[in-house]
Amino acid sequence: MKKIIANFKMNFTPSMTKEYLIQLLARYADSDKVKLCLSFPYTSLAIAKFLLDKRKISLGAQNICDEEEGKNTGEINGAMLKDAGVNYVIIGHSERRKKFKEDNKSINHKIKIALKNGLSVILCVGESLADYNTLKTFDVLTEQLEAALKGLYENELENITIAYEPIWAIGTGITPTAAEIDKACKTIRNVIKEDFSQKASENIEIVYGGSVNTKNISKFKNLKYSNGFLVGGACLDLGAFLQIISTIEK
Ligand code: 13P
Repeated sequence: MKKIIANFKMNFTPSMTKEYLIQLLARYADSDKVKLCLSFPYTSLAIAKFLLDKRKISLGAQNICDEEEGKNTGEINGAMLKDAGVNYVIIGHSERRKKFKEDNKSINHKIKIALKNGLSVILCVGESLADYNTLKTFDVLTEQLEAALKGLYENELENITIAYEPIWAIGTGITPTAAEIDKACKTIRNVIKEDFSQKASENIEIVYGGSVNTKNISKFKNLKYSNGFLVGGACLDLGAFLQIISTIEK
């Protein structure tokens, strides 16, 4: 079964989310071939939870506070997400690492807090264009993974999906080749093997994200080392998103 995670980023008011989901639920039938996970802004979680009731679609948030308590005006903690019916949370997206200065230590705290509150985690890792051009992808992935997963027990990896998202591929329409994605996913599995075990490296779920669209999905759908996709811009157009899903289902 392939995992398809949609990241709606800072798009859709609650009313727009409602319209989108009514259409999606009418046109998409739960399937054994894909596991759909939809990550909305905080303000859309309540309506999404209501509409997704009794469907096999997971609900995700796009961030979580790196502290469980404290005077964190504007933040949302793990207990709040859990109680809102959220199943998983995206952590360490490059947009948050860059714009909101999230460092590896904070990302490590966020992962631990999410897991402690019964939330699954989508951990984003990926290199910049400068790193890619200077052949540092391996080093960057290793450093980000080791820092983010520090202090975790092997069994906790069952609730973590790693999203390989090269920064230079996000929102640019440019992607690595299928072979490059597979190589990066293999690197991620090797890090997991070194730091945890062979079994953990085989079982960890890895998805690819970065300019996935209707045109390139067929060339990526049979990657050897990855288990699915993290879709950004293309999920905003329901027709395109459904086409991506059906290509993966075939
Ligand atoms: P795009 O698909 O728009 O490149 O975004 C990818 C992404 O950042 C998903 O988290």
